[in-house]
Amino acid sequence: MSEMNNTGVNLGRKSSEVVLKDITKVFQQPDTGKDFTAVNHINLKVNSGEMVTLLGPSGCGKTTTLRMISGFEYPTSGSVYIGDRDVAKIPPNKRGISMVFQSYALFPHMNIYENIAYGLRVAKRPPEEVTKRTDAVIEMMQLKGMERRFPNQLSGGQQQRVALARAVVIEPSVLLFDEPLSNLDAKLRETMRDDLRALQQRLGITSLYVTHDQSEAMAISDKVVIMKDGVIQQVGTPMEIYEQPVNRFVANFIGKANFIDGTLVSKGPDGAVVRVGGREMLVPKPGAMQDVEAGSDCCLCFRPEGVKLSSKEGVFRCKVARATYYGSKIEYALMLGDSQYIVETYNPQLHERYAAGQEVSLSLVEGSVRVLR
Ligand SMILES: Nc1ncnc2c1ncn2[C@@H]1O[C@H](COP(=O)(O)OP(=O)(O)OP(=O)(O)O)[C@@H](O)[C@H]1O
Ligand SMILES: [Mg+2]
Repeated sequence: MSEMNNTGVNLGRKSSEVVLKDITKVFQQPDTGKDFTAVNHINLKVNSGEMVTLLGPSGCGKTTTLRMISGFEYPTSGSVYIGDRDVAKIPPNKRGISMVFQSYALFPHMNIYENIAYGLRVAKRPPEEVTKRTDAVIEMMQLKGMERRFPNQLSGGQQQRVALARAVVIEPSVLLFDEPLSNLDAKLRETMRDDLRALQQRLGITSLYVTHDQSEAMAISDKVVIMKDGVIQQVGTPMEIYEQPVNRFVANFIGKANFIDGTLVSKGPDGAVVRVGGREMLVPKPGAMQDVEAGSDCCLCFRPEGVKLSSKEGVFRCKVARATYYGSKIEYALMLGDSQYIVETYNPQLHERYAAGQEVSLSLVEGSVRVLR
């Protein structure tokens, strides 16, 4: 994909795929001298033009992974491919990548125009090309009229647009983002993330995006990569990650999840039979996980909205510990024995309502239950 604008400048025409082959990064800790594995045998393929987000808690290795793609860090083992090139021996400025950071990293002593033109000047592009491309990007990023200002004369959102302009002006084949929106307030963050996604799709630039904000990851990504302790837990579309988490960590990290412990009785073509609280229930495919063996402990995983509540008798008879009204939904904290479950009913006006102290039967909606280890 490419974009021709009225100045005839072709942006983002050389998008490449990115492949990480079994990359590991071991750091020697400066304080203890011990080895620490920050990234542990990661394999990942980002298709040309795709936006893939690395998501995980602080310290799980997201930035380290990006830095190995950019070339600011070398893998201890494994290979990085950009397009069909193994980039091991290629320095960062020759990899065809641009990076956008949380801190914007603009040059404070240069005006906006010079900040954006910088990469083209360093690459020694002819002056008329520098002017043409810089002007085109300034127009595209709606920065017209601000060219002569300095970074400290712009708002945070405007500075981030300059950082993005500076990243795309050199026509990278890969864009890397490390928490680019973290410094912005919540409202602006949402607007910027939508703009950023629209721009990425319009230009078709392969992008890797690091965040620890799950809703941001869901909103902008073709694929989400969930990481924990340097290891990839799951790769999938936002829908796959939310609806078919492969383990408790992923289920908990994306959205809210409840777990009921049980035992897997048997597996068959229809799904899995699980014993919970002295009763057996069938969990239909695809909720029944492949890697749980008959006879072993397991848990039923369900989302707050994947339930029905009723005042009639039922399998899971719970006590309402708390009912919180949010307008579009009511959130209930339910006690079943010593365990607490958080459930939600949307459109409260269409449902029976329950008050704290009341007894209620919880039933799990078929198709939204997962059996996990
Ligand atoms: N140069 C280094 N030397 C030693 N340890 C490092 C170095 N860089 C990173 N680490 C460690 O590697 C781990 C992963 O760091 P990384 O910056 O990749 O995490 P992250 O997922 O980006 O976290 P955050 O969300 O907080 O930015 C951390 O435990 C960090 O302390
Ligand atoms: Mg980081």
